[in-house]
Amino acid sequence: MASEGDELHMDLPIRPPDRCPEAVDETLLRWGMGDEPDLPAMAASLSRLLDSEAPSPVGMGTLIRHIHERYHRVLAAVIEDALTLASVCEAAHGASEVWPHGLSDLVAEILDELEQHQQREYAVVFPMLLAGSAGTPGIAGIMTDEHARLRCRLDALTAMTRQFTAPPGACVKWRVLYVLCCKIDLDLREQMRMEENELFSPFLRHRTEDSVCSDTMSAAR
Ligand SMILES: [Fe+2]
Repeated sequence: MASEGDELHMDLPIRPPDRCPEAVDETLLRWGMGDEPDLPAMAASLSRLLDSEAPSPVGMGTLIRHIHERYHRVLAAVIEDALTLASVCEAAHGASEVWPHGLSDLVAEILDELEQHQQREYAVVFPMLLAGSAGTPGIAGIMTDEHARLRCRLDALTAMTRQFTAPPGACVKWRVLYVLCCKIDLDLREQMRMEENELFSPFLRHRTEDSVCSDTMSAAR
């Protein structure tokens, strides 16, 4: 049976996307958008985006592993595919006035920011949470600040894609790209909510309580 310490042996899910033509073709094929449309492949890829209704597990180690498997790994794959599709669509539709100019840059920024954030989570935050370290309050605050910046990026993504609504006449790649952007928005927001409410909240609450207690003590002197 796995112990809490075993939960730390997890690879960082995000890696720099491979932009070689073969990797782009592979992504398009996986989404049923090769030279010939492949509807079963597209349906299979879309089905993989569906959520399971399983409730969140209880316990710090189990919850961290759940966030790793259900959110970090899934999101990394979805963002990398979205980045590939955004680049392909931008090359095809960049001259169109209805194309959301800057979308591939924004998706790349989200990927980059999330990678840096997750590096800190895997290297520092998750081990500290599992150890119940006294240094955690400050780290939890840094993590929630980084979440706030990611939420700003997601707000920009929502606005840029007009709430993930492709314009009339948009091609199938463009439409699938917006489905992926919507998935990124939903999953990343839920993942951050879960981390803040179920992982960080005890440490954030302690920090707030410590600060209130300290202020009260000072005022009473
Ligand atoms: Fe996080």
